[in-house]
Amino acid sequence: TPPVRVAMLGCGTVGTQVERLIREQSADLTARVGAPVELTGIAVRRPHRHREVPEELLTTDAEALVASDVDVVVEVIGGIEPARSLLLAALRAGKSVVTANKALLAEHGPELYEAADESGADLYFEASVAGAIPLLRPLRESLAGDRVNRVMGIVNGTTNYVLSAMDSTGAAYGETLEEAGRLGYAEADPTADVDGFDAAAKAAILASLAFHTRVPAEAVHREGISRVTAADITAARGMGRVVKLLAICDRVVDEDGGESVSVRVHPAMIPRGHPLATVGGAFNAVFVEAEAAGQLMFYGQGAGGPQTASAVLGDLVAVARNRVAGGRSPRESAYAELPVRPMGQV
Ligand code: HSE
Repeated sequence: TPPVRVAMLGCGTVGTQVERLIREQSADLTARVGAPVELTGIAVRRPHRHREVPEELLTTDAEALVASDVDVVVEVIGGIEPARSLLLAALRAGKSVVTANKALLAEHGPELYEAADESGADLYFEASVAGAIPLLRPLRESLAGDRVNRVMGIVNGTTNYVLSAMDSTGAAYGETLEEAGRLGYAEADPTADVDGFDAAAKAAILASLAFHTRVPAEAVHREGISRVTAADITAARGMGRVVKLLAICDRVVDEDGGESVSVRVHPAMIPRGHPLATVGGAFNAVFVEAEAAGQLMFYGQGAGGPQTASAVLGDLVAVARNRVAGGRSPRESAYAELPVRPMGQV
């Protein structure tokens, strides 16, 4: 069987680990896929900064790499452009795409699905939400025969770390965030995390998959944690509660049977006995409620190089198997269009 040829776009924290896993687990991957998985090139902006990966793989020409003789394009650059154009080009050429890019999926998901459906290419993005936790494929595939009514959870590790630390030390928001930055939990620019943009993009993806509809990121009601004070946390504690930044996706059924979805991200006080209350540090946890399955909980590390790379590799094995055995990722054209409710209507 000829090898499955893979191009990778980007080589940061996640990409470095993806390259390592493909190399180190080569024999296992071959056995699981039924053909060797061969990384043929890695597009980066500054090759001299990537001493940890084989030099002969590096190129600065991402467009040419995508257009070259490859079966799969793995994208770990992040951000909208050039990722969007490169992945559209790959999908239109019938190449399978594996991406960790939540912003791209949340803002341009339908455009990517359409390109994939037209050419029959695979589009997988498990790593875009909650890092290592298998969550998107369970929603998209394992629960596809059930009816999901709610997805609720902690999907941002940075804010969860900050809120947990404020709860245990009684310290103020600003100093806790600074400390989180010093310890490497918060990024140099933590705006997307603390203002809830990161969680809102993840909520949009979760709601889209859970309810088999299309929820754009801008339709998600969003409130971050920057106004949560030490006094709020103390007050919550006095009531036996803890403050968490929650992403909540609900299916709403009207009296007349009409359906819509409500998707929101905001700080919430939850009872200390609730399973989400004990999720600390940079962990993520997501509850799913489905008609027949009942309650499910997904828990694990939502960020980190090896963790996120694990999800990327899982997707890579899935698309490579499809290439070898002739399968396909689920078609998104079967989506229903459920209206998204503005806040206040719930
Ligand atoms: N900044 C994100 C978080 C990283 O804190 O959860 C994972 O998407």
